[in-house]
Amino acid sequence: MYLRPLAIGASTFIPGMRRLLTQRGTGSTSSATYCYEVWLKHLVLLWAHGMRAMPKTLAELGPGDSLGVGLAAVLCGVDHYFALDVVNYSNPRLNLAVFDELIALLRNRTPRTHTGWPDYDQYLDNNLFPSHILTDGVLEKSLAPSRIERIRAVLKTRERESRDICIEYRAPWLDDDVIDKESVDVVLSHAVLQSVLDLDRTYAALYAGLKPGGSMSHQIDFTSFRTSRQWNGHWAYSEAVWKLIVGKRPYLINREPHSTHVDLLRKHGFELVCDLQNYSNEPGIRRSQLSARWNRIGEDDFACAGAFIQARKPEIRVHAV
Ligand SMILES: C[S@@+](CC[C@H](N)C(=O)[O-])C[C@H]1O[C@@H](n2cnc3c(N)ncnc32)[C@H](O)[C@@H]1O
Repeated sequence: MYLRPLAIGASTFIPGMRRLLTQRGTGSTSSATYCYEVWLKHLVLLWAHGMRAMPKTLAELGPGDSLGVGLAAVLCGVDHYFALDVVNYSNPRLNLAVFDELIALLRNRTPRTHTGWPDYDQYLDNNLFPSHILTDGVLEKSLAPSRIERIRAVLKTRERESRDICIEYRAPWLDDDVIDKESVDVVLSHAVLQSVLDLDRTYAALYAGLKPGGSMSHQIDFTSFRTSRQWNGHWAYSEAVWKLIVGKRPYLINREPHSTHVDLLRKHGFELVCDLQNYSNEPGIRRSQLSARWNRIGEDDFACAGAFIQARKPEIRVHAV
């Protein structure tokens, strides 16, 4: 038995420890380059799968340490950005620092710096920049000095809105109706849905919040998040052990595999437009080690370490009478 995750889980029952673990942050979105690349990847793949205009309204689940992914989107022309998290990680000072770096990255049409997964180079120009979407005309408008100052004013004053720009951060995000019905063009999340506890309710809320014809883009990680030595060892733990590992943390991972997401998307009425799966090269646990809850997991799910999923809410259908 791998004791480290059990010890960490147990420590969250000690008063103060949970806060200490949360204060460490989530790690990635404090880097402007990371946020820039995450936004470019989701944007380029949304475009490749049928989106033909910059969204006006974007909602992001689980932005983490900064609002940088959404700020990159706002700098490309998104006017309304809603960030929904369960933990209030982000702070205005870091957001402003990331924002300034993002302006420079976009003004310089900075090429994406690393390939990552999924690889989307085929959609980029020779300079590894999406100049077919972020044309000079688009960026001239979205990066106009007066617009940048309005965005900065919203970030500085923490007032949600300045004329056309609205940035709203809800953490914790508790109510399903935080997002107004049919108000959002695109919902995005990156390394988040593997942690959402009530996926059914969340997908229902996202469906309700999206405009007809709106899109979702999610990268999901199905690995064990260091709760075991093997990448898929989280599926070996019994329910009782898993409860101890999670402890009193507000979230860890829900352990749901790829097919759960696909099934829920279909159940809620989404059309799947992209479903890329990443299969691990690392040796994992054997099927015989799976716990009772997971021992019927399909071969495909058992090998799938990550997915990049995009889906559309259908346009309203007009029925002939
Ligand atoms: C691994 S971090 C990823 C952060 C960031 N998206 C990134 O790419 O680095 C997971 C994030 O999901 C958030 N999260 C967990 N459950 C959530 C939920 N039900 N709704 C919204 N965010 C959630 C966490 O608070 C955290 O910010």
